[in-house]
Amino acid sequence: MASAQSLSVPAPRTGCPLDPPPAYREATEVVPVVRVQLPFGDECWMVADHEHVRTVLTDRRFSADATRPGYPIINEELRALAAASRSSVESVEEAEHLRRRRMLTSDFKAKRIEALRPEIQRMVDDVLDAVIADGGPADLVARFALPVPSAVICLVLGVPYEDHKFFEERGRVLLDYEAGPEAMATARGELMEYMLRLAHSKQEQPDDGLLSQLLERGELTVEEVAGTGLILLLGGHETTASTIALSVVALLRNPGQLALLRKDPTLIKGAVDELMRYATVVQNGLGRVAIEDVEIGGQLIRAGEGVLCMLSAANRDEKAFPGGDELDVTRDARGQMAFGFGLHQCVGQSLARAEIQTALETLLRRMPDLRLAVPFEDLRFRDRAGLYGVERLPVVW
Ligand code: HEM
Repeated sequence: MASAQSLSVPAPRTGCPLDPPPAYREATEVVPVVRVQLPFGDECWMVADHEHVRTVLTDRRFSADATRPGYPIINEELRALAAASRSSVESVEEAEHLRRRRMLTSDFKAKRIEALRPEIQRMVDDVLDAVIADGGPADLVARFALPVPSAVICLVLGVPYEDHKFFEERGRVLLDYEAGPEAMATARGELMEYMLRLAHSKQEQPDDGLLSQLLERGELTVEEVAGTGLILLLGGHETTASTIALSVVALLRNPGQLALLRKDPTLIKGAVDELMRYATVVQNGLGRVAIEDVEIGGQLIRAGEGVLCMLSAANRDEKAFPGGDELDVTRDARGQMAFGFGLHQCVGQSLARAEIQTALETLLRRMPDLRLAVPFEDLRFRDRAGLYGVERLPVVW
């Protein structure tokens, strides 16, 4: 068993690449709240089971403000991004956070997203038409899983899709722990500059996109609109892309489950929650910092101390999901926490769900003999990044 004192996060995935690092579950087997080491030498608390992750994420005595002292930082540049753009929903004080969040939740509520479905279906079909026309093998990450969410979030925000390489590449650098501080700072600066320029241009020439709508409502400054737009642009493409690609890998590794889904496509809605539970992409935990002393699971967490909530491990918790290490597309996985939980739960979840459902249903229907074009062992997974994913996914069909 990993000793709590010696556990460093992120811990390696020593088992199957689709399973979370076993060390998180092992370290919290005896006591649910343990002390861990962070990459920059700091320490914080960690919770990794469903009950305690939920407890921390719903308790208002914990803040998600990454600029507060004690917040557990794994990636320096993300802290800088949060500090520089206190305009983002992720980093503002709770009252202000609620106001801005409310502003966005109405834009991303399920009803609005339903209206977008035909457009999402059209985009998925267009992207697949091109892949099928070119013939296999094809890299499903570059040709399908990434272009769909990138194009959708561009449409929603009013960002020109022609710029997708620019923001995808820089977004990837921000998530890559090995990129180095200089490359990260450059990527961050360029992205902020880009969004600010875009927001200014929307002031001159408004369109139907959300950036223009946010400006028109007049509740945010142009800098705040740019900051919020950047969070939505970054939060809205790689997360969904990684989920689509990992879902395909998980289904190809579980042919019985894939067959069930092919036989009964009405299972797709529930299967998306199950796939997100099984292969949770936010891999290094959600950070929180206590704003007053709190006792959780018998452990006193003092004001100013940080906590990491390991979503990937919590989503495999046997107590919440019996047989949780198995993929079961018929399971009721609505309690999964890949979108987080509580006050900060993902604003874009209805949009992401609609995209993932449409992408997977269409892919399976239009590629009836989908299979890997390389041995599973040759796939490279992104361990050293904030978001888990597969680098390339060569397939034939
Ligand atoms: C499969 C895809 C996605 C996953 C796995 C995901 C995951 C998450 C998670 C775990 C959080 C909680 C962060 C926290 O509690 O600290 C979150 C928040 C957020 N997500 Fe997503 N997300 C996805 C798609 C999207 C999309 C498509 C958008 C934009 C349209 C989006 C926008 C946001 C925003 C703005 C927040 C901050 C909410 C707040 O602080 O109140 N996400 N997401």
